[in-house]
Amino acid sequence: MSTLQFKNKWVLVTGASSGLGAEIARQLATKHGANLILLARRKEKLEQLKSELETDTGVAIKILIADMSKPNQVDQAIDQVLTEGNLYAAVLNAAVTYFGPQRELSWGDYETMLQTNVNAVVRMTNRLVEHFESSGKEGGLMIVSSMAAMIPIPYQAVYSGTKSFILGFATALRHELKNTNFSITVFTPGGIQTEMTGGEKFNNLRNWLAPVAEVANDSLKALQQRKLTYIPGFSNRIGNLIFKLMGRKFVLNQMARIYRKSLFNK
Ligand SMILES: NC(=O)c1ccc[n+]([C@@H]2O[C@H](COP(=O)([O-])OP(=O)(O)OC[C@H]3O[C@@H](n4cnc5c(N)ncnc54)[C@H](OP(=O)(O)O)[C@@H]3O)[C@@H](O)[C@H]2O)c1
Repeated sequence: MSTLQFKNKWVLVTGASSGLGAEIARQLATKHGANLILLARRKEKLEQLKSELETDTGVAIKILIADMSKPNQVDQAIDQVLTEGNLYAAVLNAAVTYFGPQRELSWGDYETMLQTNVNAVVRMTNRLVEHFESSGKEGGLMIVSSMAAMIPIPYQAVYSGTKSFILGFATALRHELKNTNFSITVFTPGGIQTEMTGGEKFNNLRNWLAPVAEVANDSLKALQQRKLTYIPGFSNRIGNLIFKLMGRKFVLNQMARIYRKSLFNK
């Protein structure tokens, strides 16, 4: 299987209006010369990024405004992506979290998180796999999960569940693929400096957060090299090993203590 080369190819990035998605888009344009389809809800942010990248790099950029928590908008968006463009790769990155006691998470917000982080990813993945399997075209899909998929985070219980779901789903699905020119990669970063971790609830956890540019760069290498899964950062890989060696109970107790301190300052 050859490595992916993005130059002059169309790549979809969901959640491209901020954080990791915006940086992945930026690096795809500046370092790889890819044409981009940028998807998110905030039109102004996407337009800003589009004009920045078009001016700096001359790549072609399309904007797609869609709410991934709404199934009809997910379907419309993926229809448009697959009918309009000669899609080469997709980065399914859009997600939301809730950081706080589970009992305070409303059912509505729970459903929005499930819809955005899980259902939209599965709906889009099904369509993308169908497209690449039936056409036999070369390409790649990267799904952004999290280390929370392997090491569940107390006070981000539902988020952890959603990230575990997509890790299990996508790694299993890769082994059903018949098109040997198409791959699925699951990227599982630890904490990153983005809007998601920008609030004061994360104040005590800031030292753990990696710069977004570094993480985006690692993610694109993993996608290019068609890795099955990839954890960026040496300390995250060590953390994952410690989790396996020391046992879940010990590590989760420590994590709950640290996260409680950050949330409630006690
Ligand atoms: N930050 C971390 O510490 C961390 C750690 C591990 C994994 N991750 C994962 O990395 C990915 C990116 O997160 P981030 O940290 O970059 O967060 P972020 O800065 O909050 O960005 C999230 C992106 O998702 C989009 N989004 C959210 N809800 C959406 C919806 N309903 N419809 C369409 N787009 C939606 C947002 O755009 P709009 O608001 O404009 O729609 C935004 O572009 C996520 O999958 C996250 O789980 C993050």
